[in-house]
Amino acid sequence: MATLMQAAKPQYAALLPGGAQYRWVVTGAAGFIGSHLLENLLNLDQEVAALDNFATGKRANLDEVREAVGERRWSRLRFVEADIRDERACQDICAGAQFVLHQAALGSVPRSLADPITSNSANVTGFLNMLVAARDAKVTRFVYAASSSTYGDHPALPKVEDVIGNPLSPYAVTKLVNELYANVFARGYGLQSIGLRYFNVFGARQDPDGAYAAVIPRWARALLCGDEVVINGDGESSRDFCYIENAVQANLRAALVSDPQAANQVYNVAVGERTSLNLLLAMLQEILIASHPEVAAAKVRHGDFRSGDVRHSLADTGKAARLLGYAPSHTIRAGLQQAMPWYIRRFKSQAGRAA
Ligand SMILES: NC(=O)c1ccc[n+]([C@@H]2O[C@H](COP(=O)([O-])OP(=O)(O)OC[C@H]3O[C@@H](n4cnc5c(N)ncnc54)[C@H](O)[C@@H]3O)[C@@H](O)[C@H]2O)c1
Repeated sequence: MATLMQAAKPQYAALLPGGAQYRWVVTGAAGFIGSHLLENLLNLDQEVAALDNFATGKRANLDEVREAVGERRWSRLRFVEADIRDERACQDICAGAQFVLHQAALGSVPRSLADPITSNSANVTGFLNMLVAARDAKVTRFVYAASSSTYGDHPALPKVEDVIGNPLSPYAVTKLVNELYANVFARGYGLQSIGLRYFNVFGARQDPDGAYAAVIPRWARALLCGDEVVINGDGESSRDFCYIENAVQANLRAALVSDPQAANQVYNVAVGERTSLNLLLAMLQEILIASHPEVAAAKVRHGDFRSGDVRHSLADTGKAARLLGYAPSHTIRAGLQQAMPWYIRRFKSQAGRAA
């Protein structure tokens, strides 16, 4: 276990002058993004209260964090299995905290189209419960996971924060409502918040399973297991894929930035690089080919375009650079290279069968 333990990343330690210690809340901590926030905060010797109801999160993600940070740092975590739809649980987790990193929500456009009521209750009612709890606990700042889906049907590229269209899915409605509530809580109660509009975040621990898996883990799995790769549409749809380290950086900067102008704003969190699905598949094959030559012959099928999906997505990250000092550390290619060993380990048994 000791050999796997990591040190705090120097670029994040530099954001906490004098090794300052704070109390943080991370919701959705057993999920993909939340587990990386948890890991980095514990590595920075911070106190963390974390919450998850395991709707889509995994105990295995928490086990991996524990292994990575070691027992001493793990002991600074209070983890509560609870639902953000439970007001009391939200009040309890926020008590005494300085910073909230609110990630818990039901992701996925198709999931929200299949079951809008459940997406709404987690993403809107749960969000409101967390805002009220953060207000009551008088936290210094409430940082929350917003979404690039808020740009909806607006065709402009690159996306600039104050130009949005109409939402294209119930999920997008919930994320827009989050921004509206956060804005009202700033005006009405003085609660400082920052919304981070994530653009297709990817990396280790992003769930490859199930009907609502994101494209990178789904294709990594298909390639490594010798399954068919299904491209929704012609493959020329494009996204601004953002490696998890960039999202972690944005969260820490958003919580800790002292410039008052930076608060009560939303920011794009991306790289500012547009990659088509066809190019993404080629990159995955290129990265895997040395260790798994069979991926060159992967079976590829084009399916239908998915309803609720936007055709192109590309962020202007200028506002985050200006006000938060955000500078993405990883391009898509660098991120894929760093994430791939995790997927190879995850699918080793299936890959072994396919090879
Ligand atoms: N991954 C992306 O590309 C992306 C893009 C835009 C926005 N987001 C947002 O970022 C956040 C984190 O996403 P992720 O990719 O890590 O997804 P994830 O599904 O891995 O993580 C979400 C976590 O929230 C938990 N959760 C869901 N409903 C809950 C509830 N009612 N009570 C308590 N916990 C609950 C889940 O169990 C899970 O652990 C979400 O708010 C999502 O909408 C993600």
